Amino acid sequence: MKPVKVGLLGLGTVGTGVVRIVEGHQADLFGQAGSPISIEKIAVKNMAKLRNVAIDAGKLTEDPWDVINDPEIDVIVEVMGGIDQTKAYILEAIARGKHVVTANKDLMALHGPEILAAARENRCDVLYEASVAGGIPIIRTLIEGFSSDRITKIMGIVNGTTNYILTKMSREGASYHDVLKEAQELGYAEADPTSDVEGLDAARKMTILATLGFRANVALEDVSVKGISSVGKDDIAFGKRLGYEIKLLGIAESQDDFISVSVQPTLVKNSHPIAAVNGVFNAVYVYGEAVGETMFYGPGAGELPTATSVVADLVTVVKNLKLGVNGMQAASVFKEKKLKTDAQ
Ligand code: HSE
Repeated sequence: MKPVKVGLLGLGTVGTGVVRIVEGHQADLFGQAGSPISIEKIAVKNMAKLRNVAIDAGKLTEDPWDVINDPEIDVIVEVMGGIDQTKAYILEAIARGKHVVTANKDLMALHGPEILAAARENRCDVLYEASVAGGIPIIRTLIEGFSSDRITKIMGIVNGTTNYILTKMSREGASYHDVLKEAQELGYAEADPTSDVEGLDAARKMTILATLGFRANVALEDVSVKGISSVGKDDIAFGKRLGYEIKLLGIAESQDDFISVSVQPTLVKNSHPIAAVNGVFNAVYVYGEAVGETMFYGPGAGELPTATSVVADLVTVVKNLKLGVNGMQAASVFKEKKLKTDAQ
């Protein structure tokens, strides 16, 4: 059987995990997707770099256009990050009829509506499960699992790096800078960790979750953001004495057509399950009018957890190819949002 051919953009932490899972789980993926999946080309920054995963050097290129322009490639998996140039790659891939799986929250938070519109027009899938909360399948849960309900609140720890830092500061009294360095070495932090610690990464993820959860056009600039760089050991110790943990929480609420979305360090009572979410773990609490309270928990960053979500999207694309239903994701009817201000 002819394999579905994949072009990978990026071979960093997540890209390496994607290669490991696609190579290591071939039989399971075949069983799930109904077709073999083969990574045919990989765009990397530096071909000479030593890697800790076996790759046929003939598959590597330093030019992403070699992958996008290859007519043999059916699906582009984008795990290179970046915004403007990466958007150009993805739009061109869609124009060429290729399906796209991306882990890029920055891109989807800023340009998601435009990219998804192009995908629908060209009957292509664009799936982005790995863009929020790493290994937790929260995007498909919001789209499919809650399609029958009206969500009024989404609250979560959606940045692993800051949760790792806050946990170590709380448990070990460790210093902010030492733990940040550790999180970078473990591959959790962004290339520029400012977006983790200043809350922008979480804000981008909350933009995506609020858009899907509330079926409304939420923009990044609608989110009020404060990070953890000003949280000191004393704040954490003081909170603990009173029975609270400090967590970087994203909170999105929808009430009577008004929406508010924020990211900020928040005192969470010890008895709340979110207070027990530690280390690189993420948790997303979703309140639906009919279902009531639900919570989803799992690793929010790291090689294999994030790659699990990427490859699950890849399996969906391949299944859709078999069924001939790519690009037919239910066209959501999004309402215009009204932002809730302090005065309301
Ligand atoms: N830097 C991100 C985090 C990676 O720490 O959550 C996963 O999106």
